[in-house]
Amino acid sequence: MKLKSLILFSILSFTLFSQDRTLPIPKLVSGDNIKLNIQHGSINLPFGVSKTMGFNGDYLGPTIMVNKDEFLSFKINNDLNEDTTVHWHGLRVPAEYDGGPHQIIGKGTVWEPEFKIIQSASTLWYHPHLMGKTGEHVYNGLAGLFIINDDYSKSLKIPKDYGVNDIPIILQDRDIDRNGSFVYSPNMHDEVFGYFGNIILVNGAFEPVLNINAGTYRFRVLNGSNSSIFRVRFSNDKKFTVIAGDGGFLPKSLSTSEIIISPGERYEILTDFDTDDESFLITDIYGGSSFKSMKIVTSNREGVFYTHPETFLSKPVEYNQKSNTKREFLMETQMMGRFTINGKAMSMDRVDFSLPVDSTEIWTIKNIGFGMMQVPHSFHVHDTQFSVISVNDKKPGALYSGLKDTILIMPGDKVEIAVNFIEYLGKYMYHCHFLEHEDSGMMGQFLVE
Ligand code: C2O
Ligand code: CU
Ligand code: CU
Repeated sequence: MKLKSLILFSILSFTLFSQDRTLPIPKLVSGDNIKLNIQHGSINLPFGVSKTMGFNGDYLGPTIMVNKDEFLSFKINNDLNEDTTVHWHGLRVPAEYDGGPHQIIGKGTVWEPEFKIIQSASTLWYHPHLMGKTGEHVYNGLAGLFIINDDYSKSLKIPKDYGVNDIPIILQDRDIDRNGSFVYSPNMHDEVFGYFGNIILVNGAFEPVLNINAGTYRFRVLNGSNSSIFRVRFSNDKKFTVIAGDGGFLPKSLSTSEIIISPGERYEILTDFDTDDESFLITDIYGGSSFKSMKIVTSNREGVFYTHPETFLSKPVEYNQKSNTKREFLMETQMMGRFTINGKAMSMDRVDFSLPVDSTEIWTIKNIGFGMMQVPHSFHVHDTQFSVISVNDKKPGALYSGLKDTILIMPGDKVEIAVNFIEYLGKYMYHCHFLEHEDSGMMGQFLVE
């Protein structure tokens, strides 16, 4: 850990949870004609003021909540004094509206994507994706949740009252400097090994308090960090049930006391809280420090308890080992902070391969490192939700049993996924979701035709 972080810890450790810092819940927006204004802002943390960027506000953005089969239209205004893009992470969407590096929203201009939701209930998110700038824009605060509901999710007897018992949890680490603010300034070491923070923000707040009645709560957890792997758990080893991953409900839920969640991944969990209980949501940074990221205070009032479902309807991607096209992706950390996939760094005008729409393929992805440069990577593909066939030739565990769009690959590891692209055509990205790696070239493009 960096020295400045250590110093800050000893200074700050007495600044603990203040009862008037309640957990912020991002506003809901929905329907057609969703308006997003991308703007500069600033936030006050107990240590000082940080310059930020946000959608319709100073930091982060509203939660977009939509239904399957719904037709959406947006007016996205770029009020920044620089270009950016808005990408719908995890969404099956026409390439021209994917919001990747090619769909630049010039400063002072408006982008009006419109598309139909063709996938099932899940917790997705949105964030900028400008070539070489994704890390900086996300770090400054440009991110929001994108929740899809469908008839099935609405029929389930689980908490679904947004902000009341269905709580968004956007976890991000930020590196507070000696002036008390966070500024995006990774050095070469950070770019390779991860840009770790010395504080954790939950929905943009430092050490917030969630005040609730007793009952069952659903947390939709997004690792919105740039390049930190989080272990998420509660104090007292409290048990919880994981019910959904990136692309929706798990076929079989998992009772556990911790989850590992890498940048860009989401999990939905159910937890019960008793009356007059006090606990903490703990976030440990892999290879870094451990934080009490949020305090949960339960009143003496009894709310609603739900049985945690053991199974859910969930449709995997069907594949055929004999007939499906296979592809291999080697993720390599080169010298001097250069990152490649299959030996190549991202180029805006190179398409790496093409595939026909409505086909299923089997992709093998390996993290092959390079000498001493053995660092974790993750693999994210646009316009799809994939099924994990194997991890190091073994059937994946319960957490990976549902649809996913981002998967962590530790050094030397290999994953095999079944991936399909339906309905929409065009040029899409695949990349490492450690944003400093992505911005340093660990990305490629494919064409669905
Ligand atoms: Cu969440 Cu291509 O990104
Ligand atoms: Cu994406
Ligand atoms: Cu990476």
